[in-house]
Amino acid sequence: MSEPLLSVSGLCKDFGGLEAVKNVSFEVHAGQIKALIGPNGAGKTTIFNLITGVLPSDAGSAIFEGHQLLGMPTHRIAALGLGRTFQTSLLFDQMSVLENVMVGHHLRGRSTIFTAALRILGAGAEEREYRETAMVALERAGLAELAGRPAAALPIGQRRLVEVARALAAEPTLLLMDEPAAGLNMRETERMGEIIEEIRTGGVTVLLVEHDMSLVMNISDEVLVLDGGQRLAEGTPEQVRNDERVLAAYLGEVAD
Ligand SMILES: Nc1ncnc2c1ncn2[C@@H]1O[C@H](COP(=O)(O)OP(=O)(O)O)[C@@H](O)[C@H]1O
Ligand SMILES: [Mg+2]
Repeated sequence: MSEPLLSVSGLCKDFGGLEAVKNVSFEVHAGQIKALIGPNGAGKTTIFNLITGVLPSDAGSAIFEGHQLLGMPTHRIAALGLGRTFQTSLLFDQMSVLENVMVGHHLRGRSTIFTAALRILGAGAEEREYRETAMVALERAGLAELAGRPAAALPIGQRRLVEVARALAAEPTLLLMDEPAAGLNMRETERMGEIIEEIRTGGVTVLLVEHDMSLVMNISDEVLVLDGGQRLAEGTPEQVRNDERVLAAYLGEVAD
């Protein structure tokens, strides 16, 4: 197989005695949709936070296109082409859909999502060029006709797609998606799945954290299962679905 796009090894994170991530290693190859699954509290979001520089790691390595990500500031990681969507919705209701997506451009610079929003609201002529990138991203998320709507007017399914478009506006090579189908109904979840597949077809590699098993099993090439911060299993959706350790971990969650 070719060099991995992202290679994580020996990743560890301890929160005051709680070992949230214990010696986790995995690879993501260019062109893949790879899923990271596991019961609540398994450490999935923490892994995203470590890889994107939001939290410092205790040990390990995360090499993305030859660059060591651990220890790098978040904006440099974003500038390398690592994009992300969040588990909790972060749209600016008073801004239009297009403006919300334009915020994504600044995520490759030093701006936080909030200072980026202020820059878009204080728009000068220079912002016009971001408009085109943002429109392309909106088209990829299937939302072009909603560009002028206030974000506040959108139902949850479309809000989550705007967040995807915003991440695409930063033109990532690898997109980390944290539960993009959270709160979506079955039809909206299917739509999200189609969009994720189109994103991959468009040349963006995807690392997907998702609780909706039908979505994960339908679109992933490979699945890594975590439990209690540790790697439990890894394989094709078919292999993972039939793994007794995986079934036991999820049954434990149902029992909780
Ligand atoms: N910033 C933090 N401080 C302390 N504990 C945290 C923090 N973030 C996550 N945790 C804990 O680490 C564990 C893993 O959390 P998380 O990565 O959010 O799990 P997942 O995304 O798989 O549901 C949980 O027990 C959670 O309570
Ligand atoms: Mg999470």
